[in-house]
Amino acid sequence: MGILDKLNAIAETRRTLLPPGVDPFNVVIDEIYSSTEASICGQRVLLAGTNNYLGLTFDSQCVEAAREILLKEGTGTTGSRMANGTFSGHRALEKELALFYGCSNAIVFSTGFVTNLGVISTLVGPGDVIVLDGDSHASIYDACRMSGAEMIRFRHNNVEDLEKKLGRLGSRAQNTLIIVEGIYSMLGDCAPLKGIAALKRKYGTWLLVDEAHSMGVLGKHGRGMSEAADVEKEVDFIVGTFSKSLGSVGGYCVSNHPELDLVRYVSRSYVFTASPSPSTIASVRQALRVIQAKPELRTRLWENAERLYHGLKQLGFELGPDISPIVAIRVATKEKTLLAWKALLDQGIYVNLVFPPAAPAGMSLLRCSMSAAHTTEQITHILQVFAELHSLMMSSE
Ligand SMILES: Cc1ncc(COP(=O)(O)O)c(C=O)c1O
Repeated sequence: MGILDKLNAIAETRRTLLPPGVDPFNVVIDEIYSSTEASICGQRVLLAGTNNYLGLTFDSQCVEAAREILLKEGTGTTGSRMANGTFSGHRALEKELALFYGCSNAIVFSTGFVTNLGVISTLVGPGDVIVLDGDSHASIYDACRMSGAEMIRFRHNNVEDLEKKLGRLGSRAQNTLIIVEGIYSMLGDCAPLKGIAALKRKYGTWLLVDEAHSMGVLGKHGRGMSEAADVEKEVDFIVGTFSKSLGSVGGYCVSNHPELDLVRYVSRSYVFTASPSPSTIASVRQALRVIQAKPELRTRLWENAERLYHGLKQLGFELGPDISPIVAIRVATKEKTLLAWKALLDQGIYVNLVFPPAAPAGMSLLRCSMSAAHTTEQITHILQVFAELHSLMMSSE
């Protein structure tokens, strides 16, 4: 027995489950041509499984902004935000994020994952309570464990269950943080945020919303689910990422509580990791401008999402409950999901393969996602290929 034995068990699962050839959990993009096209295994593929909701990774203004700062300020900061890793761009982006959300405070972190680790584990600790949606992202679960607070899960998107859990807290409610997401990353379903915010008010708790998949996607101005549900005033902390609609890498938290600024001094994932590179920050600042200047990108994204969702529904696939840019197809078994994923790739379409625990409730999913950059012809092609695979994916034997 040794520490490597558990890895050998993974090797065995991989050997029995995965087909020879391409490993769906280790895909290499040989070349990337645009926000919707790349080469995988030497073959040109249509990307229908990214988080590039607004297609900004190749936006000429974002690329140019990054290039200009790369030449001027170099490839990296080589320091954490607390030491030598805060350049004027990091500070400027924090001001711009605060302005975008109409909040007094904003902090930029190195990724969305470490934003959750840093913010949640600093805000709550031993003696406090976290009430979180059962389908929360891994970064939220890890943050909750790190915090040392008591963790209480409520059933996914179930406001009645949340109320049941809050009702038992008594005076501990004032030391309780509710954590939910705007759009859930695997099934693309939306949080019932109006009901959740009403409960937050009723019980006097605190509320944090992770808008990773909803920023740039929902709300009149693209601020996310909190804006769409008109509950921004009830939300104490919004966290998000630069790695989806903003087409880069990094994370942030905004709030009207001035105490957020103090998180900088104690959050280990702010203090002890290198800050985003100057060119990363420059592209994000430009992307934030594009999101505000081009609401038509959001309109286009939703047209594409509806086209794909309705098309797949008409073909008889089992989809997530809400129409959103994330369109997940439930397949009966892991084996069939794998076969379908490989068949799609062979036909030149890349989607995400998702197994439990990444997929909720033991499901096996083919997770498609739409971008404002997809053309109608590309979506028609995706639907044609899915139509050809329907019997392979849906047959019960
Ligand atoms: C809900 C949620 N929060 C946080 C993250 C982490 O974001 P990042 O990729 O910036 O680490 C993700 C990424 O998938 C996410 O889905």
